[in-house]
Amino acid sequence: METIAAKGKNEQPKISSIKKLSEIVKSGEVIASPIYSRRFSNPPKVEEIDSVFLEEAVKVVPGFVWDETNNDAITRIIDWAVGDRSRGVDPNKGLLLMGPAGTGKTSLLLALRAFCQRIGAQFFISRKSSDEADDGWRPLLWMPRHTIDVVEEYRELGHIPNVSAPVYALDDLGTEVDVRRWGESAVNVIRILIARRCEWNAPLLTLISTNLDAHALQERYDDRTISRLRGEFNIIPVLGRDRRQHK
Ligand SMILES: Nc1ncnc2c1ncn2[C@@H]1O[C@H](COP(=O)(O)OP(=O)(O)OP(=O)(O)O)[C@@H](O)[C@H]1O
Ligand SMILES: [Mg+2]
Repeated sequence: METIAAKGKNEQPKISSIKKLSEIVKSGEVIASPIYSRRFSNPPKVEEIDSVFLEEAVKVVPGFVWDETNNDAITRIIDWAVGDRSRGVDPNKGLLLMGPAGTGKTSLLLALRAFCQRIGAQFFISRKSSDEADDGWRPLLWMPRHTIDVVEEYRELGHIPNVSAPVYALDDLGTEVDVRRWGESAVNVIRILIARRCEWNAPLLTLISTNLDAHALQERYDDRTISRLRGEFNIIPVLGRDRRQHK
């Protein structure tokens, strides 16, 4: 079996496919380089990844369907979860699920979370030399947060709880009502959240869903926020019909 030994700085081995990654994980190798940004305590067989995702999706979204309209989005979020870069997804960047109302963005985040939990996905954040017990790996799991609740909590507490959590999912970006109350406007709270997470000195992962399009995002947020959304997220279009109307 092929194993990956520590190589020189300029010679970092690349994972060319998920198959190779899962072989490495199964072989019990400790994957030390941040380039290997995923490992799994319960790795699925490569040929079963899709069916495992669907199984978990149906558990959290009853009647969940994987069809031609959400196929690209599902493929890409699975790539992200398992760390497969072959189709252009960067597992070290966040996910920005963009699409009209009711196309299933929130449901995809729920399904993704259940899938990550099932396969015991972890990602590499950083190894703190001062803490030997901390090997730098964190579960690829998060508490889903709705944008409106984040803003409310900020107003009650004066800070954003868990802003530096290893993974953070912000559902429905753009629904915050921008009335200025107690100092910070709602839009500013969200700007602060995105800025803090993108500037943290370890690679935090942020997942966002929004039904604003690029133009509406541009109108609402400042250039720096837009630039972060463009540069530090995988943009995943979630298209198709409003699934609420077709129940
Ligand atoms: N893939 C799917 N198969 C079947 N039903 C789905 C699927 N995805 C979502 N649904 C259902 O469609 C409805 C809308 O889904 P969801 O809330 O995820 O959409 P959304 O894109 O987040 O909408 P919004 O933009 O309004 O937040 C829900 O009732 C959900 O159960
Ligand atoms: Mg939603």
